[in-house]
Formats: sequence, C-alpha cells, structure tokens
Amino acid sequence: MTFAGPLRGYGARLAAAPPPSVRARAPGKVNLALRVGPLGDDGYHPLVSVFQAVALFEEVTATQVPPGTGITLTVDGPQSAAVPTDATNLAWRAAELLATHTGVEPDVALHVRKGVPVAGGMAGGSADAAATLVACDTLWETGVPRADLAEIAAALGSDVPFCVLGHTAVGTGRGHLLTPAMTRGEFHWAFAASDRGLPTPQVYAAFDSLARTASPVVGIEEDTALMQALRAGDPAALGAALHNDLQEAALSVRPELARTVEIAREAGALGAIVSGSGPTVAALARSRPHALAIAATWTAEGAADTVWTATGPAHGARVVAS
Ligand code: C5P
Repeated sequence: MTFAGPLRGYGARLAAAPPPSVRARAPGKVNLALRVGPLGDDGYHPLVSVFQAVALFEEVTATQVPPGTGITLTVDGPQSAAVPTDATNLAWRAAELLATHTGVEPDVALHVRKGVPVAGGMAGGSADAAATLVACDTLWETGVPRADLAEIAAALGSDVPFCVLGHTAVGTGRGHLLTPAMTRGEFHWAFAASDRGLPTPQVYAAFDSLARTASPVVGIEEDTALMQALRAGDPAALGAALHNDLQEAALSVRPELARTVEIAREAGALGAIVSGSGPTVAALARSRPHALAIAATWTAEGAADTVWTATGPAHGARVVAS
C-alpha cells in the first residue's frame, strides 16, 4: 500500500489554503463623566473618567505573511481616507510594541475596518490598537497575560487599556488605571459626528488656556449619583449625571457644537454632552427608537456630518474569528 496519492492530494490542498488569519474587535467609548485636573509635569492631565464602551466596533484582521515582510496596513470603512496607513497609525505601533515585548519578528498584514467615528473623541484609534494587540497575540501565539497586555496598551495611549477591557469602568491616572464598574441593563446612545476631527492635545491646550482653576485633587466622589444610576440601570438619572470638564474647552474650539448639544436636549435626550475631547456629541436616549429619533433630528437640522446609534455597555477587545 502506498500513501503517495493521498499525500500529494493533501499537499495540493495545503498549498491552496489561505494564510492563517485572526479577526478581532474592540469598541469605541463614551465618557459618562470626565473630571480633569491641572497639567502635570509629565505633560498629562490627571483625570477621573467613567468610561462606557458602546457597540460601535473597530475590526482588525491580522494575517500571517512570510518572514521578513514586516508590517503592512490597509484601512476601509467610513472616513477611512483620513486614517494614516504608515508607522504613525496606532494599530501599526501596537503590532510593533507587542513584537518587541514578546521577542517575535513584527511580520503581519493588518487590515482595519472602521466602525467608530474618526478623530471624534470616541477612541476609534485606540480601539484599533486594542484589537491589534489581541489579534496579533493570537496569530503569533504569544499568550501575553492580560495584565501585561494592559501595560503595553497604556504605553500606546491613555484610552487603549479601556478599549481592551470594555464594559463600564472608572479610569484614573491618565485614564489608564481601570476599575470595572457595576451596571444593570442597556443604555441607548445617539452620536453626532463631524468629518473634521478635533485633535486631543488641542482641546487639552484650550482647557489650560481657559485658566480654569481645576481642583488639584480629582476624585470620583462627585460621581456618586452617576455610579448609583449605573447600578440601578436608571437612564434618566444617568442622563442627569453626565459630565465633561473638557466640554467648555471643546466648545471654545468648535462653538457650533453647543447647538448640536441643544438640539439633542430639545429632542428629549436624557442628557447630552461632548464625548471626551470631541467633536462627537453623545446623547442618552430613553430607547432605541428614541435614539434613532434624536439622530434623525440632528440630520434634519444639518447639525452632524454623520449620525450613529449604539447601545452600551459593550464587550472589550476580543477575537471574533480565526
Ligand atoms: O495618551 P494619548 O496619546 O491619547 O494623549 C494624547 C495627548 O492628549 C497627550 O499628548 C496630551 O497632550 C493630552 N492628554 C492629556 N492628559 C491626559 C490624556 C491626554 O493632557 N490625561
């Protein structure tokens, strides 16, 4: 008996098989509360942030390439033309940093599908980095423990650790030291996004130049009502407790956002704020149809380039297919 026939057949099938590939997703976020202290010596503002992940996902596919190929990056989806595809992209840097940390060669083809508004204060770029870490860790079989992954994430950007963790969490430090928060039920959000992004450093600079005497100690105490609303699953109480210390700074750079917030309130939003450093405006709705109605009002008033709706909380970075 000979195996030559069947083995040749098997070999032919292997040659035709696509290279190994891992697809991962990570969520965008909204800051339910953002309290910012004065600029520190490290160039960062100490903050306390209550993050909620929302079900708008960045999807990253990491595909094996021949050794020595290095990293390549392609991007598609809404506003993808505005996203760099070189080593300045946070997904690229995430693959590079993970490779350095684990001692593997940084050989991978990354493909990013955008699902979060670009440069909108919703951590879309950070979600790309988070999804890339998880995808490459699986593809390269590096098995990095979650705690180490969180440290690598923090080195990439202040919001990356939360995009890895997901759900709802309180962030301190630069926003990267996280404690999960208890929540009940689902919250319905509408988002008004602008094609013109607002760079985070510009908003922090405006915050500094507004010469607000920010409290030197930033605490979570102010947000007791917010934490209770989350635990109770009470959207009306949550809407009333939304807070953003960067809102005034974002409005000073983009005054027209005040009208976007106002329109949401007129449409019955339980609360409406600039999301993080903006320019996206987030509105909390009573229900999914109400979220759609708020989004439709923004569109009718010409107050947004794109509108989005999503529920929160959503899961953190995870592999969805390999
Ligand atoms: O950490 P990340 O790269 O996202 O931050 C971008 C910029 O935003 C920082 O260089 C800094 O100017 C500003 N920033 C800050 N305080 C924070 C987070 C970010 O001043 N807590």
